[in-house]
Amino acid sequence: MNVIVAADKNWGIGKDNKLLVSIPADMKMFREETSGKVVVMGRKTLESFPNGLPLKNRTNIVITKNKDYDAKGAIVVHSIEEALEEVKKYPSEDVYCIGGDSIYTQMLPYCDVAHVTKIDFVYEADSHFPDLDEDEEWEITAESDEQTYFDLEYQFVKYERKK
Ligand SMILES: NC(=O)c1ccc[n+]([C@@H]2O[C@H](COP(=O)([O-])OP(=O)(O)OC[C@H]3O[C@@H](n4cnc5c(N)ncnc54)[C@H](OP(=O)(O)O)[C@@H]3O)[C@@H](O)[C@H]2O)c1
Repeated sequence: MNVIVAADKNWGIGKDNKLLVSIPADMKMFREETSGKVVVMGRKTLESFPNGLPLKNRTNIVITKNKDYDAKGAIVVHSIEEALEEVKKYPSEDVYCIGGDSIYTQMLPYCDVAHVTKIDFVYEADSHFPDLDEDEEWEITAESDEQTYFDLEYQFVKYERKK
């Protein structure tokens, strides 16, 4: 299973239920990487999307404790265990955990590839991703050249769980 995230220098990923920054080329990469695939997310991340709607052209799985939750067009599950059971229906390499903070933290142990957009800036953040550079179980296996968006520098970095 994959995880895909955009994180700042301190692994900050969001503030007030919003992304820290929206970089068009990063959004494009996210769309291309996940199109036709399965995306797994927390209820708050779903509700942060435009009109709170599931992502198009993807199978959306939403995790909430609310048994009455109805997310139009999304599969609703009520625990991490139930999400893991549901994703067994798909090839593991086609499944992407897309956040937020709580779901990344709980699902990272089940992921073996992380697609990280590393933004070379420190934002004020209230949501974070686990620091993979400090985690000996993970290693960088691919890195793009430095990218720029106005004066912001960022890189696409692939981490894999060590075999
Ligand atoms: N930079 C990025 O790449 C990126 C990507 C995604 C999100 N984000 C950011 O992350 C932030 C949101 O993160 P978050 O942690 O606050 O929210 P979240 O993970 O998106 O959603 C949290 C919700 O998921 C449900 N949930 C979590 N664990 C569960 C479990 N074990 N069983 C059942 N339900 C469970 C609960 O829903 P109920 O309350 O309904 O029970 C919980 O309130 C936002 O700022 C967002 O913009 C950043």
